[in-house]
Amino acid sequence: MSSKTESSVVIRTATPEDSSICGQICYDAFSTINTVHGFPCDFPGPEASTGLLSMMFTTPGFYSVVAESDGRIVGSNVLAEQAVIQGVGPITIDPTAQNIGVGRKLMQAVMDRANQNGAAGVRLVQAAFHNRSLSLYTSLGFDIREPLSCLQGRTLERSIPGCTVRPAKPTDEGACNALSHRVHGFDRGAELAHAIQQGTAQIVERGGRVTGYTTHLGFFGHSTAETNVDMQALIASADSFVGSGILVPSRNNVLLRWCLANGLRVVQPMTLMSTGLYNDPAGAWLPSVMF
Ligand SMILES: CC(C)(COP(=O)(O)OP(=O)(O)OC[C@H]1O[C@@H](n2cnc3c(N)ncnc32)[C@H](O)[C@@H]1OP(=O)(O)O)[C@@H](O)C(=O)NCCC(=O)NCCS
Repeated sequence: MSSKTESSVVIRTATPEDSSICGQICYDAFSTINTVHGFPCDFPGPEASTGLLSMMFTTPGFYSVVAESDGRIVGSNVLAEQAVIQGVGPITIDPTAQNIGVGRKLMQAVMDRANQNGAAGVRLVQAAFHNRSLSLYTSLGFDIREPLSCLQGRTLERSIPGCTVRPAKPTDEGACNALSHRVHGFDRGAELAHAIQQGTAQIVERGGRVTGYTTHLGFFGHSTAETNVDMQALIASADSFVGSGILVPSRNNVLLRWCLANGLRVVQPMTLMSTGLYNDPAGAWLPSVMF
């Protein structure tokens, strides 16, 4: 494969049967690049990446594609298309087929799809140490928007005075989506509804109002709050963060300092990138690993 060029590569829609080979490639790609740079893999094993891709390849709201060379799958990519802003990832290429243009083709496929969808913008989160992904996304038109710190651990403070955290209910959706509109200019209602159904969503109340929510605290969840205090209450309520950790915007110095003072540890630096519409959020927020 390494002697071939991208011209022999075909992009097609992913099927459920592709998830185990794509899950293995996803694990191999992340563990290889992360190990070279001294970082832990984003997945504990190939079962975890296969489980994630299997869910994405079969759930409405995700557009999934694979790249094939001579009938062999060499990579995959996913577009989360539930909101007006759409998110990319995970994109992974077989380590024996990297740097010959497969990633560019898989990125173009999901960007074309986002265009057809009429998405206002497309976003992704990139491992800050990875020269190749940074170069690829930048040359495709993505701008760097926010440095992120992936944090893991359990906060020393277990609650914040004046804030109550409880599981979110379907009746909270309106308040959470309105909050998201105030902070980000759009809502992620489909993700929130799914998280409420799964039992992972939490809200924070202060002064008798909803002042923040999380779909879940971890790599694949996002959180939005009016203020850092509300976000601290959400973070303090979790016994652990799912996956590699939570993604804290590093320029939110007050929140990052509070996390560090509370014993959380930095796992790796990451970068939020976007193309199309972007506005600086007007509140406290933690992106998911998609956006
Ligand atoms: C990141 C990844 C998806 C990219 O896919 P790929 O097929 O290897 O990349 P491509 O060959 O399509 O494109 C890489 C581009 O970066 C350029 N590039 C690579 N290293 C570079 C560097 N150090 N400086 C500048 N440009 C660089 C290449 O020249 C190429 O540009 P071109 O298309 O203009 O020629 C793939 O390498 C991968 O799976 N990596 C491990 C997992 C990962 O990090 N996934 C991304 C998560 S955000």
